[in-house]
Amino acid sequence: MMGITQLGYVGVGVSKPEAWLRFASEILGLQPNGTDHDGGTFLRMDEHHYRLIVQEDSRDDIAFIGWETADKNGLEQIAQRLKSAGVEVTRGTRQEARNRHVAELVKFTDCDGLRSELYYGPLVHMDSPFRSPQARAGFVSGDQGLGHVVLCVNDFDRSLQFYRDVLLLRVTDFADFKIDPEHELELSVAFMHCNSRHHSLAFGAIPGFPKRLVHIMLQATSFDDVGSAYYLCQDREVPISMTLGRHTNDQMISFYVQTPAGFDIEFGWGARTVNDATWEVQRHDKASIWGHRLRAGILPGPGKAA
Ligand SMILES: [Fe+2]
Repeated sequence: MMGITQLGYVGVGVSKPEAWLRFASEILGLQPNGTDHDGGTFLRMDEHHYRLIVQEDSRDDIAFIGWETADKNGLEQIAQRLKSAGVEVTRGTRQEARNRHVAELVKFTDCDGLRSELYYGPLVHMDSPFRSPQARAGFVSGDQGLGHVVLCVNDFDRSLQFYRDVLLLRVTDFADFKIDPEHELELSVAFMHCNSRHHSLAFGAIPGFPKRLVHIMLQATSFDDVGSAYYLCQDREVPISMTLGRHTNDQMISFYVQTPAGFDIEFGWGARTVNDATWEVQRHDKASIWGHRLRAGILPGPGKAA
């Protein structure tokens, strides 16, 4: 069975696109790369034409997600699985595929109504390498996809069933932890992979969380880029949602910065990878080995969590 090979692109809908694009370029070091036919701006982080599309939208949340397959065969197999599970699948028009710079795409919504696309054949530019406006060394992407997204879902079990049994993402591990030692809120999160990246998707049902998108993770190739971005945020007074720390499960050293749209970017380095031949699903009861302290006031107070 040919499945999804990577998290290829993500669209975000933000109320202040100019501020968001400035943040993406000056803080994250992503490279603007023109616009699509709907006025969205492409952001580049590797040889792909883009990895993020920034659209104007008052929701300040994820707008859509693009899952890549190796080829047409892979796309048709997953599309068929979706149909067999009762999910409506619509063929993208030639114009829609052209707008996304892919060979072909199909559209569906996930079990919570998130617009999702399956595609193959992304446009890549081998003649013009990624150039970070911040002279960053680059990102771990390529066949590991753009990074990962963490979503707040309505029903944990239903999402697990959808992403594992229908889309055939593979469970890497589960974590049940208190997000903050002083906070009552306990979270169950599933981490799922589709290539050697530890997780391309994670989700949990977070009571009272106002958005679908919790964060998007981008992984720098150089630890110095994480350190310098961390201090750049502090110098520019860009809000840090969670301090530098190391995660238990993917062992990534990262910090979380609040974007002008309210959702976070996790900026990290040094994650371990998954080898499907030997990987066994694990469970964790802590999110971090050290650090990752939550900024005060970021969550609803104890007692309000439910
Ligand atoms: Fe993350």
